[in-house]
Amino acid sequence: MSAEVSISEFEFYDLKPTAPCVQDEVIAGLNQSEKTLPPKYFYDERGSELFEEITELPEYYLTRTETGILQERSTEFQRVLKKGSSLLEYGVGSGKKSRILLDAIEPTAYVPVDISSDPLLELAHRIREDYLDMSVYPICADFTNAFELPSEVNGMQKVAFFPGSSIGNFLRSDACEFVSNVAKVVGEEGFLILGVDTRKPASIIEPAYNDSRGVTAKFNKNMLNHLNNLLGANFRLDLFDHRAHYLEDAGCVEMHLVCRRDHEVEVGDETFLFREGESICTERSYKYSGDEVEELASQAGFALEEIWTDVERMFIVALMRCKE
Ligand code: AVI
Repeated sequence: MSAEVSISEFEFYDLKPTAPCVQDEVIAGLNQSEKTLPPKYFYDERGSELFEEITELPEYYLTRTETGILQERSTEFQRVLKKGSSLLEYGVGSGKKSRILLDAIEPTAYVPVDISSDPLLELAHRIREDYLDMSVYPICADFTNAFELPSEVNGMQKVAFFPGSSIGNFLRSDACEFVSNVAKVVGEEGFLILGVDTRKPASIIEPAYNDSRGVTAKFNKNMLNHLNNLLGANFRLDLFDHRAHYLEDAGCVEMHLVCRRDHEVEVGDETFLFREGESICTERSYKYSGDEVEELASQAGFALEEIWTDVERMFIVALMRCKE
């Protein structure tokens, strides 16, 4: 693969992921018997800011617990992973967790991959400035499918990093397919470092998705604002309430927007009737036991090398070695 754009300090690989038609996706979701909207529409600029705020909330234990585990285990990463590897990060965030791993592993190359080029390039620039001895190859791609890596990382050990329990936003069967695709990308002797939220009582999980300051409620409702801007739809944010509940047997938190009274919403040429009490499911967030993480690894072509957790078993960081 050759670089599409050369920016003085790094090569940018734009694989030009095809954007699905937003209107078709939204209309299809609202036509289902239980209305749904894809969680990716949380993330306009405001949505990304609100998500960063969520990660700092006292109730949202996920980010700080995962960060603590990564910091605590940094010498063990050094023990298992070879120097001179390439770190592939799936999805970009603030870069805080990436830096913990970059400092621990000291890879030769850092390859952040994201479907949105702006946050990807911003992160690549920030990392580039602070890690001058390391090559940075941002790739704009839909990483839910296998994708080609830059030839510069050929021959290097590949270590994929998928933090934040973002795996939980896939249905369990899709999570397995996704991890199988990661195995294809990292190849034999490659690794995956996966951050996963654990199953635990609803009394702990529900406040994380329904915080006392109402940030998650704003984040959830902001999706409607985003869709109004993208599609010229006329969702009224004041006619929906945020609700999050944990389905203990399924190990899944569902976020919904619940309609306050009967009304109609126009999206493109279609009009949707919303009944009082009816809801739109905007996100599912699956939680995993240690055994479920192990099963996911083995079904997707990895062997579990290490499974690290915190004292309260709130979060898991799994280190998996590719068997393919
Ligand atoms: C991005 N994802 C892992 C978050 C989660 O916990 O499922 C998104 C989120 N939704 C509400 N709060 C955070």
